[in-house]
Amino acid sequence: MNKERKLIIAGNWKMNKTAAEGLDLVRGLKIELASVKEVDIVVCPPFTALSAVSKAVLDSNLRLGAQNMSEHNVGAYTGEIAAVMLKEFSVRYVILGHSERRQYQKEPDALIAKKAQAAYAASLKPIVCVGETLAEREAGQTQKVLETQVRGSLAGATKEQMAETVVAYEPVWAIGTGKTATTAQAQEAHAFIRSLLVRMFDETVARRARIQYGGSVKPANARELMSQPDVDGALVGGASLEVRSFADIIKNSI
Ligand code: PGA
Repeated sequence: MNKERKLIIAGNWKMNKTAAEGLDLVRGLKIELASVKEVDIVVCPPFTALSAVSKAVLDSNLRLGAQNMSEHNVGAYTGEIAAVMLKEFSVRYVILGHSERRQYQKEPDALIAKKAQAAYAASLKPIVCVGETLAEREAGQTQKVLETQVRGSLAGATKEQMAETVVAYEPVWAIGTGKTATTAQAQEAHAFIRSLLVRMFDETVARRARIQYGGSVKPANARELMSQPDVDGALVGGASLEVRSFADIIKNSI
């Protein structure tokens, strides 16, 4: 597939996989995906598996991401993990503002923007997640919600920082439900987000920014989704937990 931007496909393992199970998975992925050069491939294990997985991916084309981080650099924040701690394991990416954290940990856009700033300061690339709920879509609020989230979560980001940022459009109603947005719905939302980036930054920044789609991405729907002009990759949950399905998503996207 000839795309304007290099595809980036990331596996969000969520709260799955012990370190040993994670190792098994990446060993399989390394073999299956060794020859893939067309896609940036990222795995995002839970914190407790980062050490083991980081060693396993050292000599491979797999890159490492974390699923969250603190907005603070150091100090009395029980249970939190700082960017510098992630850097120790050669983490390059960090998922911020996933809808599960927005929903269960009540993370607001302003906090996500602070985390993004802490990530940039540590040279980590944030994958900033946005997306509307079913109720918001049905009420015709999709663009309004996306605009609030994108502007709020990227508040204070410079053009240079935006160049290091991936945006993930994940309609909440499509996450883990088996309901994928239609390719037309995905393309429409991605094009809207890109037009927003033009207004917030400029044409060049917006043209270069990679926007992933997330929500029930599977081997069977990957090709069609990735063929949309403004879809530059995928953030994959459930289907990233098995070698076969994650590898096939990537192979079907090339
Ligand atoms: P899913 O999750 O692929 O299981 O729908 C996607 C995500 O939440 O990142």
